[in-house]
Amino acid sequence: MLQGSSLVPSDGGQVLFTTAGMHPLTRYLEGFSHPRGRRLTGVQRCLRTTDLDEVGDNCHLTVFQMLGSWSLGDYQGPQSLRWGYQLTVDGFGIGRDRLHATVFGGDEQVGPDIQSLQTWTELGVPVELTTGDNWWSNSPTGPCGPDSEIFAWTGDGAPQGTPGTDERWMELWNHVTMRYRRHADGSLEPLPQPSVDTGMGLERLLMIVQGKPSLFDSDVFQPWMSTLPGLWQPDQRSLRLLADHLRASIVIIGDGVRPSNAGRGYVLRRLLRRALTVLWRGDSTRTLDDLPASLLEHTLAQFGQEQGSGPVSDMLRTEEQRFAGLLTRGRKVLTQFSPGRPLTEDDLRYLHQTHGLPPELVTELLA
Ligand code: ALA
Repeated sequence: MLQGSSLVPSDGGQVLFTTAGMHPLTRYLEGFSHPRGRRLTGVQRCLRTTDLDEVGDNCHLTVFQMLGSWSLGDYQGPQSLRWGYQLTVDGFGIGRDRLHATVFGGDEQVGPDIQSLQTWTELGVPVELTTGDNWWSNSPTGPCGPDSEIFAWTGDGAPQGTPGTDERWMELWNHVTMRYRRHADGSLEPLPQPSVDTGMGLERLLMIVQGKPSLFDSDVFQPWMSTLPGLWQPDQRSLRLLADHLRASIVIIGDGVRPSNAGRGYVLRRLLRRALTVLWRGDSTRTLDDLPASLLEHTLAQFGQEQGSGPVSDMLRTEEQRFAGLLTRGRKVLTQFSPGRPLTEDDLRYLHQTHGLPPELVTELLA
């Protein structure tokens, strides 16, 4: 079992944040031998900004814990699927009639994943073949391969349709057969030793096994969902967005990132500004200072972070004040800057470069 590492990749590599449990293992998936052996498991905190616009629905989060298992040139993909099925049904108690699988159906470079298709058919799990959704890579170049995903039914009543036709099928566990290395020209080279990389969202698993309608109803979110309504009375979608973005910001700060105008710091800044924009809708006197220290501490502890809540809350306060100042200045500048026509790209560039008002803020202020 591997200890999870920081959201900030230690290799300073191709991605801003760790987006998958395999990230710290990339070189081992490419063939280097791992000091802990060829069969590994782990829990890794991950951050995905690709899902940002979906946050607030039932099953997307910005920061989440990914449970992982890896075969570094040891057992093969079909074995991983069989064990995965066994753990899902017998271990976690998720009914076999609530499962659906998807498998790589082939593209112009690689043929369909017949082995996974056969395995699911033997296990009696319905399968859907897809192309784009069943190919996994962490970056444009590097290890990659076809994947097979286990979906769980989250709707009321009997399952309907397939993961491709009904979004109540929620992806639970992805099993990737890392068989290739992609080069910069797009070509694929077979890896000397194929590996298996799997990942399952812990919060999604809890939602299913606890029989909850959304991630936000599972016990990991309970402290957030019980505290925020008492502080700010947000509507349901705002409540979820605030819980997600503030929790994510705390964890990012816990991993040593500071708000800034570029890179990781900008992701943090955007999350906090999105949260503050929602928070101040209707009442601009609300403040992140209202967040109890115990909630910050609970979140940091959940992710195994040792940073105390004091420095985190200081940073939240500084960033909140900075944003409030920018909004006040922005409103003033925009009152004086009214060309009597819709703003052009040049206007937006001028407002950004001369007055420090980012285009998304100008758009928000003018909305
Ligand atoms: N690396 C794979 C994923 O993140 C398991 O979905």
